[in-house]
Amino acid sequence: MLFSPQSITFAVLLIPGYQWLDIVGPIAYINTHSHAVMQMPVVPESIRAKAPVINWHYISSEGNLNPVSASAGPPHIPTANFTSCPPIDYLLVPGANSSRQISDELSSFIHDRFPTLKGVLTVCTGSVVFAQTGLLDGVHVASNKVALKYMAEMGRLDRKVKWVGDKRFVRDGKIWSAAGITSGLDLAAEFARVHFDPELVDLARNLTEYDSNPAQPDPFAPILDGVVLD
Ligand SMILES: *[C@@H]1O[C@H](CO)[C@@H](O)[C@H](O)[C@H]1NC(C)=O
Ligand SMILES: *[C@@H]1O[C@H](CO)[C@@H](O)[C@H](O)[C@H]1NC(C)=O
Ligand SMILES: *[C@@H]1O[C@H](CO)[C@@H](O)[C@H](O)[C@H]1NC(C)=O
Repeated sequence: MLFSPQSITFAVLLIPGYQWLDIVGPIAYINTHSHAVMQMPVVPESIRAKAPVINWHYISSEGNLNPVSASAGPPHIPTANFTSCPPIDYLLVPGANSSRQISDELSSFIHDRFPTLKGVLTVCTGSVVFAQTGLLDGVHVASNKVALKYMAEMGRLDRKVKWVGDKRFVRDGKIWSAAGITSGLDLAAEFARVHFDPELVDLARNLTEYDSNPAQPDPFAPILDGVVLD
């Protein structure tokens, strides 16, 4: 499914205390393929013509427009709430304190939007947060391995989800999930590879000077040695 030169709309869920890098990497990497970024004079017109318009909306998990602080960096001001958020194609969910129950309002928003979403991208414990909606039941999903190990040991692992412990990212149907923090960048690269024109993807690779890692081999898989995930 190549998007170019169509438009794609993403919403990013800002959860208090979320890991900043979980969304900075994927947003910046995916947006490098956008028509807006490809306006740079160095870009040949033939490639620019294949770049999709990418729209970004930022929604607070609290449903209001109050600034949300991440693990680091400046507070982020949401651009839409649950009702004002326009139709979206993809939802990006960063890792955050997964012990915190998500609100009924957030759960309703996600359930309302899910049927029309083309996909959900989770990074790190974003999958553990998202699993609270029940929408990951029976789905193969990656997550932060240190967190998975801890939750398994504490008896807090949601075993309805098919956790994958030996991949940097996993795609199962509509769910695109990354393992710990930096693997979000590799998930974003996989998303770009699947959806965007190959020449555009190659130029973005040159611009970012980033060679993404494959899903496997996963050098961090040994973190979960001996841990039963199912
Ligand atoms: C969401 O935003 C809309 C438009 O700005 C506003 O009318 C509505 O009251 C807001 N809803 C909540 C729950 O804040
Ligand atoms: C995470 O949330 C839980 C439940 O609300 C809370 O007890 C805990 O202190 C939080 N942890 C951090 C690091 O904020
Ligand atoms: C990216 O850089 C390589 C050189 O490493 C070059 O061969 C290739 O044409 C470049 N790709 C684009 C789309 O400019």
